[in-house]
Parts: sequence; C-alpha cells; structure tokens
Amino acid sequence: MDQFRIEGGHRLEGRVTIGGAKNAALPAMAAALLTDKRIELHNIPRVRDILTMRSLLDELGVDSSLKHEREGNCLVIQARTPPDPVAAYELVKQMRASVLVLGPLLARLGHARVSLPGGCAIGARPINLHLKGLEKLGATVNIQHGYVEARVDRLRGDLIQFDTITVTGTENLMMAATLAEGTTVLENAAVEPEVQDLAALLIAMGAKIDGLGSPTIRIQGVTRLAGAKHTIIPDRIEAGTFMVAAAITGGHLVLDRTEPRHLTAVIAKLAEVGVQIARVKSRGQGPGFEALEVRGTPPFRAADMVTQEYPGFPTDMQAQYMALATQGSGSSVITETIFENRYLHALELARMGADITVDGRRAVVRGPTPLSGANVQASDLRASASLVLAGLAADGESVVDRVYHIDRGYERIEEKLNRVGAKISRVSQG
Ligand code: EPU
Repeated sequence: MDQFRIEGGHRLEGRVTIGGAKNAALPAMAAALLTDKRIELHNIPRVRDILTMRSLLDELGVDSSLKHEREGNCLVIQARTPPDPVAAYELVKQMRASVLVLGPLLARLGHARVSLPGGCAIGARPINLHLKGLEKLGATVNIQHGYVEARVDRLRGDLIQFDTITVTGTENLMMAATLAEGTTVLENAAVEPEVQDLAALLIAMGAKIDGLGSPTIRIQGVTRLAGAKHTIIPDRIEAGTFMVAAAITGGHLVLDRTEPRHLTAVIAKLAEVGVQIARVKSRGQGPGFEALEVRGTPPFRAADMVTQEYPGFPTDMQAQYMALATQGSGSSVITETIFENRYLHALELARMGADITVDGRRAVVRGPTPLSGANVQASDLRASASLVLAGLAADGESVVDRVYHIDRGYERIEEKLNRVGAKISRVSQG
C-alpha cells in the first residue's frame, strides 16, 4: 500500500493539464457492450477505476486496447461476440460503477447476473432505483446469493419516474432503453454533464435520445446500435481539486483542457471565498476545451456551501472545499445533501489542526486555523484529495496513508502537483 509524504508550505505555480472525466469514461465503456461494432473513446483518464472497468470487460470476454495519446489515452472496445452475462463480486466490490454493465448486458443479451456492490465509505448507496427501472421496462429481477439476476425477452419502453435523482441509475436505464421496444421516458433524471456525455456517445452510436440536459429524457428504442468515435469531457472534479490546490497554497495555476461551463457552481463558490478565477486563452487544445487561471490570494472569507445535484455544488468537491474552508475567516456551514456519511475526512483534517464540528449532514468549519503536518488516513477518493490539499498548506510533513483511494480517480496526482512546485513523495509500503 502506498502512502504520500507531503512537505507542506510550498506555493504552486505553473500549468496543469486536466484529464478526461472518470465518471463519464466509465459509463461510456459500459455502453460499448450494447453493440458488436467498434467504439473508440478518446481522452480516457489514466486512473485505476478505468483499469478496473477494463478488467471487467475482459472478464465479460470483450476485447479492448489502450493506446497512449499526447492528451489522455484512446481506448478501443469491441464486443464482437455476445458478452458473458456475469459480472463477479471480485470486481464489483472494487468499484461500484461496475453496476453500469447491468443495463447494457440485459438489453443486449436478455440476461444479466451482476454482483450487488457492497457497503461504501460515503453512504449506503443502494441500487434499488436501477432495479425498479429495469422492472418497469419488463425485466424480471431477483436477488440471489448476493447477485442481481435480471431476465427479459426484449425490454419494453415505459415511463420511469426516479424517486431520487441518481447519476448511474439514469445512465444504466438510458443505456438499457436504447435497445428497448418503443419509447422510454425518464423523469427526474440526472442532468450531470457525465450523463449528457454518455447520451452524446449513444446518439453517435445511432440511439434516438431527446431532452438532453433536462430532467425528462425520451429514448426511442432501436434494434441495433453502430460503432462510434467519441471524446470524453474534461474532469470537472479534477479541475476543481486543482483550483483548490492553487488557492490553499496562495499559488497561481493555469488549468488547461477544462470545461468552465461545467464548473459554474464551483467557480462561484471559490470566488465568494476570495479566489480569483478567469478564463484565459487555451494552449493547443481540442474544440470545446478551455483554460482557467486560478490565483489564491489569502486571506479567504468563510462561506456556507450546500452540495446539490448538478448544476449545484458537487458532492465530489465537498471534501476539497472543506480543506479550503479551514483557511476562511469565520464559520463556514457545509451541508451534504447527497450522501449521508461523507464526512470521514473531517476527523482527519481535525488531526491537522482544523476546527470542525459535524452534526449529521451539517459540518461547521471555523477558520482560519493554521494546519500542521500529521499522519492521516484516506477513507475514500475525494476525502483523500482533501487530505492532500490540507497537507500542501500545512506546516511540516504530512503522511497520507491508503492513497490507493486517490489513484482510483486522479492520474498520478503527486506528479502533477510536483511539476508545479509541490513536494510529495510516494512511498511504497511493501
Ligand atoms: N440512491 C438510491 N437508490 C439508488 C441509487 C441512488 O437511494 O438506486 C441514492 C444514493 O444513496 C445517494 C443518491 O441517491 O444518496 C445519489 O446517488 P447517485 O446514484 O447519484 O450516485 P452514483 O451514481 O452511485 C455518481 C458518481 C459519484 C458521485 C455521485 C453523485 C459515478 C461512477 N459515480 O455515483 O462519484 O458522488 O454520482 O454525484 O458516476 C466519485 O467520483 O468520487 C463519486 C463517488
């Protein structure tokens, strides 16, 4: 198990290239199961969850090849022969997003057997809405021996109203509905950019989808889907994390290959606490990608923040915002509305000197408090990012254990940070 040793107190300065969005790449990879044709995905981030999804595709008997490109990777997937319908516990337990293969397998094969994901550090995270939706489309769904067993002759379009907005639930049902007979309407659907990116890929494959970006999505089923080429959107959470890195070190970063429109709530909140952010001319980038210039000029103000579904402030940036809030003058009240248990980083930040009280879904951060280096443990992906950010600003050395969590969703974050002035070493613990 690797750990990071971070020498705090170095101001960051320079340019950072943001990778493709992990949470857009994962459903895009699952979508390749819907067709026997070639799916070519560009701007695939080099993160561990992508490797896990590739292993899952491999287990399903699906060929994929990865080619290194100047920006990101290119992944080619072709499920030429019908995939195996079983996604085993060993891979699903490593990554909950494995459940994204359920809808495509069922739609293509009429049968899928996918392990139920187990518990999770950030909340219960059931998949009941995925299953209820598939039943509404005519599938018989049973849970046996820890597996979801779903069967259907052919899915039939219907109206699905989500009780709660769910990102992967919307994605799973949207993929399933592309091959259903008739029209499916998803109401109270997620409008996250990652959902829209998946829809763009499906449309390129020949799916008939209307209402993109709105909570009502209409999908008219087709009998088969074609191959496609698609470029994954920039990772808005990686970009947000580097924005906080610039701010918390009093630094100055230019972030290349971002999509500022996806970051409106994050940019507005960081501006409220006093971080200076501007769109600047991009350097040799593809269409649709822009650059953002971020300057951290402390002192910062305290500001309350509530996590919400898109276009609200993302729960995946809550932990990183909390690290920055420790440097704001006054009390910042943070309310986490998406996951019920996403504050494990608060106790670790307190070990570094932060003054944080957690009460249910609310956390009160009182600042500014000087941070001092300490040994801390990462509990999940975004929590580990917040500990790294705090370590960058802390006095002395911090040791962040269990950084495998951060490798799931950030591409060699220590190398990217070191290139702009951080001092982080990765130490392998045998
Ligand atoms: N929910 C249910 N039943 C369901 C599905 C969801 O009750 O069947 C609840 C969840 O328990 C949660 C809420 O609905 O309280 C929202 O969960 P959602 O289903 O939207 O989350 P997800 O699809 O499992 C994705 C991202 C997460 C991100 C959330 C929220 C992927 C692969 N994962 O998860 O990303 O936090 O949406 O935006 O897209 C991360 O990258 O670190 C990460 C955790």
